[in-house]
Amino acid sequence: MSSDSSRRIQVPEELKEVLLQFSIAYLVEQPPDVIDYAADYFNKLQANRPAPANQDQSQDDQQSINSQDGEEPPVMQNSRRKSVFAEAYDPEADDDDEGATAIFPKTDEQRSRLVESVKNVLLFRSLEKEQMNQVLDAMFERKVQPGDYIIRQGDDGDNFYVIESGIYKVYINDKHINTYNHTGLFGELALLYNMPRAATVQAETNGLLWAMDRQTFRRILLKSAFKKRKMYEELLNNVPMLKALQNYERMNLADALITKSCEAGERIIKQGDAADGMYFIEEGTVSVRMDQDDAEVEISQLGKGQYFGELALVTHRPRAASVYATGGHVRLAFLDTEAFERIMGFLTDVLKRNIVIYEQMFTEMARRNTNL
Ligand code: CMP
Repeated sequence: MSSDSSRRIQVPEELKEVLLQFSIAYLVEQPPDVIDYAADYFNKLQANRPAPANQDQSQDDQQSINSQDGEEPPVMQNSRRKSVFAEAYDPEADDDDEGATAIFPKTDEQRSRLVESVKNVLLFRSLEKEQMNQVLDAMFERKVQPGDYIIRQGDDGDNFYVIESGIYKVYINDKHINTYNHTGLFGELALLYNMPRAATVQAETNGLLWAMDRQTFRRILLKSAFKKRKMYEELLNNVPMLKALQNYERMNLADALITKSCEAGERIIKQGDAADGMYFIEEGTVSVRMDQDDAEVEISQLGKGQYFGELALVTHRPRAASVYATGGHVRLAFLDTEAFERIMGFLTDVLKRNIVIYEQMFTEMARRNTNL
């Protein structure tokens, strides 16, 4: 072995960064062939390589218009990203939320329709009241007709859209992969991750959209939305049941989660209560217990990456057991009933399989108790 080979290999930061950016673009777009996609991705990356720092603005703008590359998710704030898109907006460097946010005046009637449309937008969940008002001010109406292309895959991201009405079909590489029916949002990915549009969105019917421009989106929503998706990524990727979801659906799930903390001994769910949602365990352990005569009997313990509270949501019955925090500090991610139904709807078959396991546990518990 040469002395060279015994040297420790350092992975350069730049390599890590480029590979991470590529992986995100690949995972979001899910192209059929990784090699073709990689060749195309790196060719575009090279073609759009930024010029040195003293490059003049007009050149920079031209490059942005032609740009189709998908690098630079917002985790990595560095100077190279700025030449990729025209406005060179850096949210980390912009502390002034009041700034130049656009305001589109609205009639009372328009505003109340808008409020109704954004009520269930999960991305808006963690916004403060003041930020929410900025969002409402900044949104503008767009009417669409059947056949209109709202977004074309590969384009640079301009707006983000919330649906008031209409049916919209989503295509990736001409393959139909998703349909929005009078509710939901789209167009956030390109703005969040600073990459080209991951899909084409076309109107099937007449419809009404509420749009927000890229800069306002990034100023108000980028940090909170990106942080949340990042925070829950690992947790959600490690829940076996959720493997059946597309990456994009897992991202939507992350938007919907609400972190809750409990101390040891605290009751999280009470047997017999009506269900309001389910929980994923981020940290710590919980004990599942059932009423038995005058006492509670533990039927299982659950830990990190496991979930509970889904049974009542699937069966539409009251809580079948109580759940307590045990083992130190417990951190949970809560998914409310409505978001559960919207995102996890088609997973209910997987969840129903668990009912068999629960039934076995209850039977076992009953058997143990009659033998006591
Ligand atoms: P964006 O990439 O900005 O533009 C196309 C939009 O389609 C995308 O953001 C998402 O909002 C939306 N979309 C819906 N379903 C998917 C999906 N399965 N994969 C990627 N984007 C999707």
